[in-house]
Amino acid sequence: MRRFVVGGNWKMQISQVEEAVRITENIANAIKNISMVDVFIAPSFNALYSVGKSISNTNLKLASQNIHYLEQGAFTGETSILSCINAGCEYVILGHSERRRIFGETGENINQKVLKTLEKGLKAVLCIGETAKERAEGRVKEVNQSQLAGSLKGVSQTQIEKIIIAYEPVWAINNKFLNPDIEIKPATPHQASEAHAMVRDWFRQEYGDSIANSIQIIYGGSMNQKNAEELLKIDDIDGGLIGGASLTAKTFLPIIRSAEKLSKQDPEYEWDSNTLRFRK
Ligand code: PGA
Repeated sequence: MRRFVVGGNWKMQISQVEEAVRITENIANAIKNISMVDVFIAPSFNALYSVGKSISNTNLKLASQNIHYLEQGAFTGETSILSCINAGCEYVILGHSERRRIFGETGENINQKVLKTLEKGLKAVLCIGETAKERAEGRVKEVNQSQLAGSLKGVSQTQIEKIIIAYEPVWAINNKFLNPDIEIKPATPHQASEAHAMVRDWFRQEYGDSIANSIQIIYGGSMNQKNAEELLKIDDIDGGLIGGASLTAKTFLPIIRSAEKLSKQDPEYEWDSNTLRFRK
């Protein structure tokens, strides 16, 4: 069994550093006994350093919502991966559809950021996903596979172990800017299962069985305490990237607990110290 990963993506929702620290401390305290799930939180950049300090030495890990692909230079408004490392980040979220579709990031930009993240030894949480229109046109496979190919160009067999894929269908993300004209709702277990299996198949073709079996593919898009368990039960779903429901400990914790509960229910899990993952 692969280890679950549950991440909170706070986007631009919590602007006060004190509030970000308070919420993350609550989450960190509540997950002291969680051992089977990797949990991270991605606050706004202004809070990254303070949050990082307050949760260092806890189970709660820190993520950045983005980086620039270069480490230093005259780039107004950008954030270097060195600042993220200094703050204590272990993960970088890349290619989120808000970055791709609102801020115009291309596969090439994202690829450069993925390569920088891996070069610095952090884990990249690479987001992919199709819009409602692309799904209606029958292009789910084509869109997601082309995002994978574009963003992972030049990523070696060894480096891929530091990649987590977040399948986030754009139409399921609780974002009115991305989805002005549709009713936003989570993927059904069937839709999610089909897409995750398709992503895993792509890894099988490109990187072989062992990587396809071990890579963590997490789901994002309106995941909350009500639907988390039925989504996390699906074989190819290894966790969640949570937006709105990660903004309070009260709504985020039940999702983490569902993942922990499901991991413990599996009688066959076994810790593999080579890959640092649970395996059947
Ligand atoms: P949501 O966001 O859970 O608010 O839909 C998920 C994401 O964008 O990562």
